[in-house]
Amino acid sequence: MKKILITGSAGFIGYNLAKNLIQNKEAKVLGVDSLNNAYDNNLKKLRLKDLDSSENFRFKNLDLSNQDSYKEIEGEKIDIVVHLAARAGVRQSFRDPKKYILDNTVSTANLAEYVKKEEIKKFLIASTSSVYGDSGESAMKENHDEKYPPPSVYATSKISGELMAKTILDGTGTCIQIPRFFTVYGPFGRPDMSILRFIHWIYSDTEILLYGDGHQKRSFTYIDDVIKGLKTLFLTEESGIFNIGSDKTVSLNKVISIIESELNKKSKIDYQPRAFKDVDVVIPNLDRMNQLNWKPTTSIEIGVSETIKWYLKYVNEMKDIKFKFEYEK
Ligand SMILES: NC(=O)c1ccc[n+]([C@@H]2O[C@H](COP(=O)([O-])OP(=O)(O)OC[C@H]3O[C@@H](n4cnc5c(N)ncnc54)[C@H](O)[C@@H]3O)[C@@H](O)[C@H]2O)c1
Repeated sequence: MKKILITGSAGFIGYNLAKNLIQNKEAKVLGVDSLNNAYDNNLKKLRLKDLDSSENFRFKNLDLSNQDSYKEIEGEKIDIVVHLAARAGVRQSFRDPKKYILDNTVSTANLAEYVKKEEIKKFLIASTSSVYGDSGESAMKENHDEKYPPPSVYATSKISGELMAKTILDGTGTCIQIPRFFTVYGPFGRPDMSILRFIHWIYSDTEILLYGDGHQKRSFTYIDDVIKGLKTLFLTEESGIFNIGSDKTVSLNKVISIIESELNKKSKIDYQPRAFKDVDVVIPNLDRMNQLNWKPTTSIEIGVSETIKWYLKYVNEMKDIKFKFEYEK
């Protein structure tokens, strides 16, 4: 059985990947996470509790920006590193660039040194559609449509980490793959992202905090499609950047109406000015992933319905999760 190091395993995508791999007995997973304070840690603890019962999962609380941490994972004989640890969020990144540089750029460079020292053959580094900024109606292509300079501190810190990793590992033969995600949602999602907070607020009869008029569109991508995309990359030795996202964009208003009809409730909306650097739309060109026989298959209706089913199962735990942040009113 392959041994996979998943960084950010207490995070949304890291948790879901680890869960999928151990449930299907496809790999032994070593999970690493610093349990940072970007959002409510109770949710990260809940995810870890769900993973901890498996004999094929081990967890270490480590900060990847600290070089001493790597002593704890020396000699583990890892086959694949999937680097999902990061500090996400466009607007917040302007408020505290240093944290983004540490968690995204420095951590990725440190991890690349670890990959080099341990002679690990495969290294996946999660990237973000934020590097494209606003796409208008055209689909954004890898290595072609990235904005320069990148549109946010978040995007710059992520791209810088990727570049450091490529440079550090140049000539080593390690296959570096950079999956680039587009607005991911689903069970155990993030409380700072729209779909989960909309579900929570509509269910609990709380006003929805909506930045803008809700006409802005997203390539909402269901988590299962993302996991299938990552597993597709495990099977190829092709290196480079791969867009993993839905090519069907959906407005925030449409998402709200789907949730309302699923929960049979009407939302109350508190309209606020558009968030700083919020984009109107960003669409992926999927040619590269299509060539590997991957395409997103989950419709927004099915994905939201599955997320609601999960939410209702955890509704008691959700009462303790903070869905609003200090920087919001
Ligand atoms: N969720 C999305 O829609 C989305 C979209 C585009 C890109 N991404 C990228 O996908 C990856 C996973 O995102 P997510 O949504 O699961 O985010 P998340 O915040 O839920 O998970 C990231 C995890 O990384 C951990 N972490 C942060 N800094 C760390 C450090 N220095 N050392 C160890 N652990 C650290 C955090 O504690 C967190 O649990 C990130 O690289 C993110 O940039 C996500």
